[in-house]
Amino acid sequence: MQNTAAKPYAPSSEENKEVILKVLSPLFANKHSVLEIGSGTGQHAVYLAQQMPHLQWQTSDLPENHDGIRLWIKDSGLQNVAEPIELNVSARQWPNCQYDAIFTANSFHIMSQENVSDLFAHIAQQLKPQGLLVVYGPFNFKGEFTSPSNQQFDAFLKNRDPKSGIKDFEWLNELATVAGLMFKQDFAMPQNNRILCWQKL
Ligand SMILES: C[S@@+](CC[C@H](N)C(=O)[O-])C[C@H]1O[C@@H](n2cnc3c(N)ncnc32)[C@H](O)[C@@H]1O
Repeated sequence: MQNTAAKPYAPSSEENKEVILKVLSPLFANKHSVLEIGSGTGQHAVYLAQQMPHLQWQTSDLPENHDGIRLWIKDSGLQNVAEPIELNVSARQWPNCQYDAIFTANSFHIMSQENVSDLFAHIAQQLKPQGLLVVYGPFNFKGEFTSPSNQQFDAFLKNRDPKSGIKDFEWLNELATVAGLMFKQDFAMPQNNRILCWQKL
């Protein structure tokens, strides 16, 4: 992330926000409350909440990102995006609240396997019945990278943080199944990314 003026700015969020919206729009058409995990700069939150005004969008992240998210929300003037709550997926206590959907973008490959396991251990209690978990990012299938660029990206990530890296769909789906979620859909996205969607039974 680089800084433009006071607000943090991630070029990738501007590049992928429209294609993410296209997938989310029908998925979230009948939903009301969304928790975003790892809101980052807050760019996705304000864009997606603006484009889907029927949603109440709850941002969250580690505390170091909160000031930037707040700036994006303040500048947007939107009433349907809530200021970030502190949420580390490995924290024992998660918010005492249930949502119609949980969305997270580009966070699983930053997190360790332990973080992602912790997330799935908490996810069902945060979702209302029929609630959706929607995850954007790069994923492996049957242990294989989907492109040479994803393989290089994974090496870059692991060099920076050996615990991070692109996660296997099959492993995620095992965690989801144990958590009481059913796999719903896999959307191919530009630049070798996917959107994976699970639904609480
Ligand atoms: C690459 S950024 C993605 C930010 C934003 N979602 C986007 O797509 O631009 C990864 C995000 O995951 C968050 N993150 C990393 N570890 C986390 C954890 N243990 N719990 C919650 N969020 C975490 C980071 O703080 C960061 O906001």
